[in-house]
Amino acid sequence: MADAVRMDVNLGGIHMRNPINTASGTFGNGRQFEGFYDVGATLGAITCKGVAAQPWQGNDAPRLAELPSAIMNSVGLQNPGVPAFVQTYGTYLQSVVDRGCAVICQVAGHSIDEYVRALELFEELAPFASGFELNISCPNIAKGGAAMGATPRDAAEVMRAVRPLTKRPIVVKMAPHDVAEIGRALEAEGADALSLINTIPGMAIDINTRRSRVARPTAGVSGPAIHAIAVRMVWECAQAVKIPLCGIGGVASGADAAEMILAGATAVSVGTANLTDPMAAKRVVEELEAWASQQGVSSIDELRGAFVC
Ligand SMILES: Cc1cc2nc3c(=O)[nH]c(=O)nc-3n(C[C@H](O)[C@H](O)[C@H](O)COP(=O)(O)O)c2cc1C
Repeated sequence: MADAVRMDVNLGGIHMRNPINTASGTFGNGRQFEGFYDVGATLGAITCKGVAAQPWQGNDAPRLAELPSAIMNSVGLQNPGVPAFVQTYGTYLQSVVDRGCAVICQVAGHSIDEYVRALELFEELAPFASGFELNISCPNIAKGGAAMGATPRDAAEVMRAVRPLTKRPIVVKMAPHDVAEIGRALEAEGADALSLINTIPGMAIDINTRRSRVARPTAGVSGPAIHAIAVRMVWECAQAVKIPLCGIGGVASGADAAEMILAGATAVSVGTANLTDPMAAKRVVEELEAWASQQGVSSIDELRGAFVC
């Protein structure tokens, strides 16, 4: 029998037993999936839902619409605030870490001050966090709702403000545009890793009511329909930066995850697929390992960026 392939990876200081992570907002905070499989003993990491310093109500319902090969969501980052999040999930998340799975806490804010406050609270209250993910797609209240990290300059400003607050790794979750330029700006300000992509803004109109199928005119599209776009952006970003990437977007199989790795990703998150198949992330781990063994390598690291163009 061939020797087992080493599947462990290092996402900017976050040690993962295998490259598979879960995308923020699509996996509860892990606990809801324990009834299906042993999350802590199986995955490389889980990324929690975005949490701000104070609770956010989120957007009105309906928040989800099903589209061909995709879904659209306008959840609006509903969350209970860091203290309530830690109180509800802290013990469980520590048990995830104890089982060998990294826990990445996602930080949300509507302004630089709000990001700073949220990360300060996490730093104080969440010793279980293996690292943080900064979601720079949150709407910036001072700029009429444009994303906080919409330009290289804005993204760099957020990163510069939060970098001194923690020694733990900071992954920055990027919106699906200008990933090379914004990635370079974030790397220059000390980001440890980048994750991409967040949902792609889209619209779906009910032709009888002539209204949006969700409560807002536009919402974020995710799922298999965005996978090829996400792979392209991971590849573009990988050419631009040296820090590791976590590839996200329409990953539903080991083959999808393998594409991300060949395009240059170190880790890969399973998102919308968790909503249609609660076993998806576990299956992706198994299928990815089977693919890696067929490639005749001793470590998954040898396949990163191995795309031939
Ligand atoms: C219901 C839902 C909630 C989400 N919540 C968040 C969130 O809180 N923070 C975030 O950065 N991304 C959030 N996302 C985006 C995902 O993390 C991911 O980037 C995106 O869905 C693309 O991956 P996928 O096609 O595999 O789902 C959410 C996506 C969905 C479908």
